[in-house]
Formats: sequence, C-alpha cells, structure tokens
Amino acid sequence: MTAIAYIINGPNLNLLGQREPQIYGHETIEDVAASCETLGATLGIKIKAMQSNHEGQIIDWIHEARLEAAGIIINPGAFTHTSIAILDALNAFDGTVFEVHISQVHKREAFRHHSYVSLRADGVIAGFGTEGYELALRRLASILAP
Ligand code: DQA
Repeated sequence: MTAIAYIINGPNLNLLGQREPQIYGHETIEDVAASCETLGATLGIKIKAMQSNHEGQIIDWIHEARLEAAGIIINPGAFTHTSIAILDALNAFDGTVFEVHISQVHKREAFRHHSYVSLRADGVIAGFGTEGYELALRRLASILAP
C-alpha cells in the first residue's frame, strides 16, 4: 500500500511568492505542492497538500491524518509560536512529524524562536527556503523504507 504524507501549511502561506519575497522567495504554494507531488511519486509516497488560515481547520486535518497518513510535514506559520491546540493534535498522531520553516526563524525576531510544535516534531528544518519541504519528504521516505 502506498504511504500517504500530509503537507499542511498554515496562515498566510497562501500568499507565498507575493508575501515578503526577500524572506520567503518567489515560489507559490501551488509550486511547492507540485514539486512535492512529483518527488513523492518517485519516492512512492502519495502527497496530500493543504493550506489554511484557520487553526481549527489545521487541527481537523491532523485528526484526519491519524486515520490515513504515515507522516505529516507541517509549516504552521505563526501558529508555530502560539498554538498549544496544534501541538495537542500532533501529540495524538502516531506517525512521523516534520516541522518546516521556509525562513531561518532563529535569525529573526525573538518571538519566532520558540515553537510549540517542536515539542512533538521528529525533525525541524528552517532556513532552506521552499526546498525544506522536499528535504523533509526525502527523510520521511528513508524512514518509511523497509
Ligand atoms: C514561517 C515562519 C513563521 O515565524 C512565520 O509566522 C510564517 C512562516 C516560515 O516558513 O518561515 O508565517 O513558518
């Protein structure tokens, strides 16, 4: 059976490519989803990519992932720094969780240095631009490989 990975993006990431391109680059969220789907196909992982500006929607997707996904790659956007509810949802997920940040959050404002999600994440990638999603996916594939 093909493994499924959820790629969940949080608030404002729908504006990727338009929003502060000097920080987040020029690729759009659709570009990220497409390159992960292409890579996923070569790695034998089916990708379900999603984005929401709403915390509850992200939590609902994490609950859905409990039923069908082997891994979650999540960029929670600013909810990274605020959301105990997303952390709790991820704590209820048994598979692999990777946290991705496009920017190098530790080089930025102090409020971006703390992540609730990191208390659950099995790995964290920050500052690799949108390539970070693909790196996380490659690592997920090697973990899932028999
Ligand atoms: C981000 C970093 C967060 O601090 C910020 O609020 C975002 C994007 C990143 O991908 O670098 O929205 O998660």
